[in-house]
Amino acid sequence: MVVSYTHEPFTNFSDRSNKEDIENALNYVKSELGKEYPLIIGGERVTTEDKITSINPANKSEIVGTISKANQVLAEQAMEKAQEAFQEWGNWDPEARANVLFRAAAIARRRKHEFSAWMVYEIGKTWKEADADSAEAIDFLEYYARQMVSLKDGEPVNSRWFEHNQYTYQPLGVGLTVSPWNLPFAIMTGTTVGPMVAGNTILLKPASLTPVITYKFMEVLEEAGMPDGVVNYIPGSGREIGDYLVEHPETRFVNFTGSKEVGIGIYEKAAKVQPGQKFLKKTAIEMGGKDTIIVDNEADLDLAAESIVQSAYGFSGQKCSACSRAVIHEDVYDEVLDKVTRLTEELTVGNPENRDTYMGPVCEEAAYQKILDYIEIGKNEARLVTGGTGDDQTGYFIQPTIFAEADPDARIMQEEIFGPVVAFTKAKDIQEMIDIANNTDYGLTGSIISNNRAHLEKARREFHVGNLYFNRGCTAAIVGYQPFGGFKLSGTDSKAGGPGYLLHFMDPKTVCDQF
Ligand code: NAD
Ligand code: ALA
Repeated sequence: MVVSYTHEPFTNFSDRSNKEDIENALNYVKSELGKEYPLIIGGERVTTEDKITSINPANKSEIVGTISKANQVLAEQAMEKAQEAFQEWGNWDPEARANVLFRAAAIARRRKHEFSAWMVYEIGKTWKEADADSAEAIDFLEYYARQMVSLKDGEPVNSRWFEHNQYTYQPLGVGLTVSPWNLPFAIMTGTTVGPMVAGNTILLKPASLTPVITYKFMEVLEEAGMPDGVVNYIPGSGREIGDYLVEHPETRFVNFTGSKEVGIGIYEKAAKVQPGQKFLKKTAIEMGGKDTIIVDNEADLDLAAESIVQSAYGFSGQKCSACSRAVIHEDVYDEVLDKVTRLTEELTVGNPENRDTYMGPVCEEAAYQKILDYIEIGKNEARLVTGGTGDDQTGYFIQPTIFAEADPDARIMQEEIFGPVVAFTKAKDIQEMIDIANNTDYGLTGSIISNNRAHLEKARREFHVGNLYFNRGCTAAIVGYQPFGGFKLSGTDSKAGGPGYLLHFMDPKTVCDQF
């Protein structure tokens, strides 16, 4: 028996002892920067000549770590080790597998501020955003462990007088987890330990911007008692080892989170049955968003402004769930735009080591350039209200940016920018607001700020997103409370942190015993 699940609380950094704890963690991590990390294949440390260098995006001259880089030969070795490990791990008592996750959660909780500090340096998260990422990683461990315990005996089915029917779940085999850099602890953990606790063994290819935090998590799994080869740590090029493993005839499933372009490519490649392949691959493909907050004319406009600002600029807008479109009823458009502009101009942009920073850098040079390019596009498509500038002298900093009077079909209203940019558009009534919200390829998150219950109910039915929020922002889903995943080209809606998540990585089996 396990106690019921509740989510990991967020840390209050205005409490002096919490503040001291994170400062100590930041000092410790700072003293650890610049080290080398090997691959982990079948429990063995493997060092390669070819390396990935992880850089602090707030301070380009600071190397967070140098990491060995897997190639196809090493990816093949990892596949073999994972297949060997599956022979045992797949037969472990599900509760014993869950216990590895429970122990990992306890270890991660003890090291929570250290993990947050790694994210401050490796990807530029502020204290608050890093703390939320660490809490979510712990939640995934706790939640999926319990889910496995509840699924271990399968589900009840009927039997007639002459038979005994059973419906149980079995693991698939070796799967590939490909994770993004933007929730480098939470999503990497969730997309690894979900299929792992279900009895599968994993080839883990983290994003190349965040390999150190992933290595640190491997240490946690090892300390928690994970047998060798159950999770194999193989950072490397998406094109080289990603494609190789997606197309590998022994890969049973691919669990991907990342951009639409890469996700669609993986979905297509995984669908092709390779010579020698004896099954159809399963895929959970979670991709980008172009997420809208609707503000009705009957609404708390301060709440609307705060919700837009938090959802647009938390972690510099680098969330699949970030608000990048604000669709405002014409009666309140000017007032909401004015309130959002004032709040935005108060935000502090700077090094996230500093507690008072609201917005740190964007993740790397290519992203910095891409966001500035979109800002130039925006200047031709709409009215720049505030922001619109960047500074890459020490790190990749971009001012929070607002565009107004954007056409719903403009590129800045349609394409995922993945930076601190939000575009405003005006609409005449609730129908037009919902129509605009729905007019993208994506369908991940959305919010409606309204005091009109009929309008909220209409949005419930017609606002076509996987995660819809009433009277709050559109980010910050919590594991087990707001299962997360999107419609349309936001993905396969596998609902991370949801009741059915592990079922994506198991085969249900029916046994009919007639007597
Ligand atoms: P990305 O698609 O560039 O990379 C994601 C991962 O895929 C990385 O590990 C990358 O190395 C790997 N990869 C790249 N090419 C590959 C290939 N050909 N085969 C296999 N793997 C390959 O995305 P990113 O920049 O890391 O993350 C940002 C994107 O992720 C945004 O679009 C964001 O919206 C999305 N995202 C979605 C969710 C969600 O739950 N829907 C959550 C977080 C991020
Ligand atoms: N699950 C994350 C959120 O809701 C991406 O913001």
